[in-house]
Amino acid sequence: MTTSNKTMQQQGQQVLPDEELVKRVRDLLHRNMVSGERAGFNYHFTKPSPGTYPFQFFWDTCFHVFTLVALGEVDMAKKHMRSLFEMQRPDGFVGHMSYWKRLWPGRVTDLLQLRPEDVVKLYKPHMSALVQPPLAAQAVLRVYQADKDTAIVKEMMPRLKKYYRWLAENRDFEGEGLLSIISPFESGMDWKASYDPVVGYDKGKAGPLLFWKVIQVDAFNFFKNYNLPEIYRSNKFIVKDVAFNTIYAQNLNALAKLCAILGDEDETHFQEQASITGQAILRHMYDEEDAAFYDLHGHHYKKLKIRTGTIFFPVVLRSVPREVCQRVLERHLLHKDGFHVPFPVPSLAVDEAAFNPDESLYLWRGPTWVVFNWFLQELLLDRGFTAEADNLLQSIKQLITKSGFREYYNPFTGAGHGAEDFTWSGLVVDMIKRQREPEAYLLFILLSMAS
Ligand code: GLC
Repeated sequence: MTTSNKTMQQQGQQVLPDEELVKRVRDLLHRNMVSGERAGFNYHFTKPSPGTYPFQFFWDTCFHVFTLVALGEVDMAKKHMRSLFEMQRPDGFVGHMSYWKRLWPGRVTDLLQLRPEDVVKLYKPHMSALVQPPLAAQAVLRVYQADKDTAIVKEMMPRLKKYYRWLAENRDFEGEGLLSIISPFESGMDWKASYDPVVGYDKGKAGPLLFWKVIQVDAFNFFKNYNLPEIYRSNKFIVKDVAFNTIYAQNLNALAKLCAILGDEDETHFQEQASITGQAILRHMYDEEDAAFYDLHGHHYKKLKIRTGTIFFPVVLRSVPREVCQRVLERHLLHKDGFHVPFPVPSLAVDEAAFNPDESLYLWRGPTWVVFNWFLQELLLDRGFTAEADNLLQSIKQLITKSGFREYYNPFTGAGHGAEDFTWSGLVVDMIKRQREPEAYLLFILLSMAS
């Protein structure tokens, strides 16, 4: 038993043993997994939640890859990666959703997230016209780190390069290294409160009016036929999201590392791009006074000063000076200014007007999602905040023990909300892995596979 497990038991808070968590995550992923062949394409993916999200999603697939690798299922992880790029367009684009088996979207308004020409092709596999946080290079790197198989890197490299080039050429409108999203759903944090001023919503807590305001953004893009230069010129929803761009910088770095593995001369190019993006994040998004990184809106990069859980994200970047990193973490994570809850990290600061810790159609406006902790844990470990990193992991273990694998959790009570049998919460196995010594983890995985 680890020291923190002991501490929690002394406090009367039981958590499932790691072996049991690993077993449950493995069962969950396999239950939600589907594979097959359709219209000449091979697919193999895991549904984030069989009831609520039965489709292949872009960043979800990358989370599944991290989880599968942590479970020791590296071949399965490779199949997921291939499936993600199976329908890649010749120009490099990959949509945030791939519709393989079930071809009709969950919500009729999601039809607006397709290119108009694809709406008439709903009878066959297709992709949405949106993107999601570009975690793919890191996912491939993680696969490579597991079995040192250069063949998978070689196989994925042309696809990855095309994809990241598409992003740079089509979403870095100003050529400064920062990517813009054109719909709230592209951030992966659909109803994120920092976008409220952009869509013209000023009522704080979410309600039906917010729904219509946000859907209007998708409708506008749809009627513009997803013509990106025109959408940019309109300056309606042009947002540089902190998390999206941090992930972009990290992945350009990962892509450079993958190039290095193959001896590919593009290594320097992607390395330089990563550093340009890192510097632009610091220059434009960091707010000294608030010790926070903010999303930006429009042609003039207006800071959207609402403290969502992503105000921390860029501290994972090497280009962010240590003092800045220290200030942001101390203020909001360690002293918990705005983020003081029993089950961290909430998706929105508790004193923001939009904060709602409960179940809601309007996601990402208060509850705790496993992914934020997963994201921050690596940084904390990296920078020597071992105890804080462990706290984030223990919080997740408690949430899963108490409420199972749910989409998100009430940060005060730990009650589970949203989608059921939700796979992202399986990232806990990757967190356990990171917290342990690598050799000890390997032994532990072998034992849990044998049992
Ligand atoms: C929700 C999330 C999004 C995720 C999708 C499937 O829409 O906001 O990030 O990709 O569910 O899990």
